[in-house]
Amino acid sequence: MDRIYLDNGATSFPKPKEVPDAVYNYMVSSGANINRGGYKTAYDLEGTVFETREMLAEMFGASDCKNIVFTKNITESLNFVLKGFLNPGDHVLCSSIEHNAVMRPLVQMEKKGLEFSRIPGNQFGELDLEAIENMIKENTVAIVMTHASNVTGTMNPIKDVGDICAKHGLKFIVDAAQTAGLVPIDMKSMNIDALCFTGHKSLLGPQGIGGFAIKEDFISKIEPLISGGTGSISHTEEIPDFMPDRFESGTPNIPGIVGLNASLKWINEKGIDVILNHELELAQRFIDGVRPLADKDCLKIIGLPGMENRVGVVSVQTVNTDCADAAFKLDFEYGIQTRVGLHCAPHAHKTFGTYPTGTIRFSFGYFNTEADVDAAIKALTEICSE
Ligand code: ALA
Repeated sequence: MDRIYLDNGATSFPKPKEVPDAVYNYMVSSGANINRGGYKTAYDLEGTVFETREMLAEMFGASDCKNIVFTKNITESLNFVLKGFLNPGDHVLCSSIEHNAVMRPLVQMEKKGLEFSRIPGNQFGELDLEAIENMIKENTVAIVMTHASNVTGTMNPIKDVGDICAKHGLKFIVDAAQTAGLVPIDMKSMNIDALCFTGHKSLLGPQGIGGFAIKEDFISKIEPLISGGTGSISHTEEIPDFMPDRFESGTPNIPGIVGLNASLKWINEKGIDVILNHELELAQRFIDGVRPLADKDCLKIIGLPGMENRVGVVSVQTVNTDCADAAFKLDFEYGIQTRVGLHCAPHAHKTFGTYPTGTIRFSFGYFNTEADVDAAIKALTEICSE
């Protein structure tokens, strides 16, 4: 039985061949650290790391590549920005389809006096843009928002929200877990102050590498969450005030950065519009293929019916079979790998009306084919007819 991987929302697989090749080559023929060694191998590697920052800055419309900060993943990035910026007594807005990478830090800080409010969304997860201005209070300092739901792929209108933030002097922090490397993002025109990303989803890099891009005037407002050796200004025990050293301490995940360097080159060569279109075509084919099951009331398709304002993530609920049992069958009887449950996004599921049951999520990637989708449709059809 072939393995059909449809869990790209969790982590993309496979990666372009160039990615593991680059990581392997680095580990067997370089292995150096950056910012520490004064020899050619280390200097060459610093060039690769710098180039990776440049490609990320270019992709996200960040003003300066030194303001790209590497972390281990987007959860760390969001914690870094949220906990470094927000204080007790502050109020922050978020959407109703957030992942726990945003919600758990907010709920944790709420216990110490932070206030947060969720901007309402409809059953498709579409944000009530008009509600925002009435929700802004005197102590509101920021809006933090996912770019796309990891449950249904619904995208938030971040350009419009960025405009509202600019009008009211609020900081705008975006969780681009499901969109970085897939959907065009421009921090300047979208008024994004901090863009948090992870390397292992649509950026097609390895796990363990993520980061955030930050605007110049936001840097000094963030208290560094961690501190330590940077390899720079070693005569002092003070945290450097320059970027990226202000926020990057300790030995970075260099294999991860090298892999990301290779995946960014691959994405740039392919074109993100080509990648997104392919994933949306597969998602549309899947929805069209399972719609007869929904018409017969044995399957519920959750989220937006079309491909406008979304990425290639589709959630369904089997009506006559428990979703967990159906996902187990998909894997063990058909080799189709999905993610079932609440996807670390309980309130998003409340918004979609799928809490506490959860959904079976099919998330398509660039390397999936129409044959993969057709196999998933056939398998779901058989499971629903049992
Ligand atoms: N946030 C990832 C997912 O949705 C892990 O699967």
